[in-house]
Amino acid sequence: MYHLHRTCRACGSDRLVPVFDLGVQPLSNDFRKAGEECAGFAPLKVLFCSRCSLAQLSVVVRPDILYSRYSYVTSTSQMMRDHFSALAADIFQESKPKSLLEIGSNTGNLLAYFQECGVSVYGVEPATNLADGCNAAGIPTGNFFFDTESATDIVKARGRFDLVIARHVFCHVDNWKDFVSGLVQIGHEDTLYCIEVPYVKDLLANLEFDTIYHEHLSYLNLGAMEWLLRDTPLQIHKVVPYPIHGGAIVIMLRHRDFDPIADYGPIVESITEESWSDFEHRCNRLILEFDSQLDSLRHQGKRIAGYGASAKSTVWINFLHLTRNEIAFITDTTPDKVGTLSPGSDIPILDEGALMVEKPDYAIMFAWNYQREIVAKERAFLAGGGKFIVPLPEFKIIG
Ligand code: TYD
Repeated sequence: MYHLHRTCRACGSDRLVPVFDLGVQPLSNDFRKAGEECAGFAPLKVLFCSRCSLAQLSVVVRPDILYSRYSYVTSTSQMMRDHFSALAADIFQESKPKSLLEIGSNTGNLLAYFQECGVSVYGVEPATNLADGCNAAGIPTGNFFFDTESATDIVKARGRFDLVIARHVFCHVDNWKDFVSGLVQIGHEDTLYCIEVPYVKDLLANLEFDTIYHEHLSYLNLGAMEWLLRDTPLQIHKVVPYPIHGGAIVIMLRHRDFDPIADYGPIVESITEESWSDFEHRCNRLILEFDSQLDSLRHQGKRIAGYGASAKSTVWINFLHLTRNEIAFITDTTPDKVGTLSPGSDIPILDEGALMVEKPDYAIMFAWNYQREIVAKERAFLAGGGKFIVPLPEFKIIG
């Protein structure tokens, strides 16, 4: 099901030091119906490269197990729509693309956005359920993984692209060298590449330990990216921060010939082993506070539910060994998740209407990255006396 990871995927060093351990966990998006067999469990441990500072998981779960039947769909929330328009505006300032390849195009929402702007689009999406949906909706999508081999086939069939976007997919990839060769093949000297990733500086500063799970093989820093791009024709052109998913950056890459004197600005990084041990101490404090709060509410006889069956929820639940006794159910807007069980704990996932039907005393906001939107949407729950427990970025109770 997985193999051990021994050398840094950015710089090749074998000096990888363990810095953070969440134990053995189920796969965070392995939502199954009752009676269906689960995919299994794997260690969730972070190793730190003492040469280039890249943090990376100690194991690599087979991608076909993680992605062929994928229940994660890009949110259609207002926050995500705002993000797409901000990203598109920044891209159009940089380039006037006629063609776009999106790697990991998921439900095709971003491709549809660019299609409406008159750009010719193509998606690559390994999850068959998602790729089929896109093709049916008129968004041409190939159902395979992106690598040098598939890049060669795409170029033969469709030529090279002016713009390549990969949102939250780069850190899911094990073989970065092969992926970057694919990027080089698929573009030309004027191509703009936009790689959107969660930024490890935000993860460390905001204690986002729940974004550490098997799909996220690496927690990227720019120093590691520079190491990776050495000896390739690509280089970092610009880095743009966005407030999506608890803090993400888009790393814009360009061909070295396009921009010989690229300077991507004043970002200062000093990520060390100590940054990770400090993170661990602060996480432990947060987790203890959360756990004792839950314990005390349960002893007061309060009924507690979860809000948002995010991958993050699976990490919290399994790290704290929570069960249906602590969390009665979790609501979620994703049709494929409704009617399934939370991985590892078998807490049932109900549709979002369940909140107002069941009226729990408290709902833990596991989709805390959409806090503002959720609070606005669930005014009736709050008005009826319901309260939200928000675990991150600051532990608090709303209501
Ligand atoms: P998300 O934060 O996008 O990512 P991840 O799974 O990587 O942690 O997941 C949010 C989940 O929360 C997703 O399953 C949809 C759900 N959700 C709701 O149920 N209601 C909402 O209002 C929002 C914004 C999300």
